[in-house]
Amino acid sequence: MSEPTLLRADHGAVRLLTVNRPDKLNALNVATLDALHRAFDEAADDASVRAVVLTGSGAKAFVAGADIAEMNSLTPVQGRDFSLRGQRMMRRVEKMPKPVIAMLNGFALGGGLELAMCCHLRIAADTAKVGQPEINLGLIPGFGGSQRLLRLAGRAAALELCLTGAPIDAARALQLGIVNRVVPAAELETETMKLAAQLASAAPLALRGILDCINVGGECGIEEGLEYESAQFGLMFSTADMREGTSAFLERRKPAFKGA
Ligand code: COA
Repeated sequence: MSEPTLLRADHGAVRLLTVNRPDKLNALNVATLDALHRAFDEAADDASVRAVVLTGSGAKAFVAGADIAEMNSLTPVQGRDFSLRGQRMMRRVEKMPKPVIAMLNGFALGGGLELAMCCHLRIAADTAKVGQPEINLGLIPGFGGSQRLLRLAGRAAALELCLTGAPIDAARALQLGIVNRVVPAAELETETMKLAAQLASAAPLALRGILDCINVGGECGIEEGLEYESAQFGLMFSTADMREGTSAFLERRKPAFKGA
């Protein structure tokens, strides 16, 4: 169900979630963080959803950060809890068993870039801008930005973005590996939904295996990661979709994957 701060629409097996506070450039307040967490729980549990696209309302912003007005009067304990709340939600997105694409239609700043980075893929409009501007508020990233940017784009980029707070354009974000693709703004939705539909027609259990391997492998040593990969690889041989995919190749036809 759509909520006031988060819209939900299904396009076939692709669920489109839209953060909906355009007058505040879709800033993440507590209500929106909680609505996102609920929406991702629901999308994970709903077998009819095979891929998720996340974006922001309006032409200007994906998400312009955590809600600065809400943060202004927090105590240290409340600040920590706010950070943990955002981190838990974003970890939930990162560990989704189906692919999540961030569609960056404008500013993705602070919590907005953090939200984009916990998604599995990012497609940006050529007009989008990304950054970690918390330093300008006397703050630091609090929803995992220092950790995910470091892992995604390396130490130099993480230090540059977080220390200077200066936003970068989509072309530079692509160069740094922060986004996967940049497309003309007018084509953003079509291109993103095309990719989402492609993922939604792939074998769901294999997609899940890949997401699990990349998540686990990013956080452990090579030996453990390789062990984990072979275990997941072996598990695929228990699926009907693996028999279907390999048979369809041999029979020169298109496979029909069922998620079993
Ligand atoms: N939290 C709360 N409100 C925000 C916000 C945020 N992160 N970002 C924007 N808004 C609000 C503005 O306060 C303004 O509200 P108002 O009309 O009630 O005054 C509205 O969204 C429009 O923003 P505005 O600043 O007027 O738009 P702009 O086009 O002049 O500037 C930005 C756009 C993105 C450059 C600017 O809004 C900005 O710097 N936002 C904060 C980014 C940031 O520091 N994020 C990290 C937070 S930890």
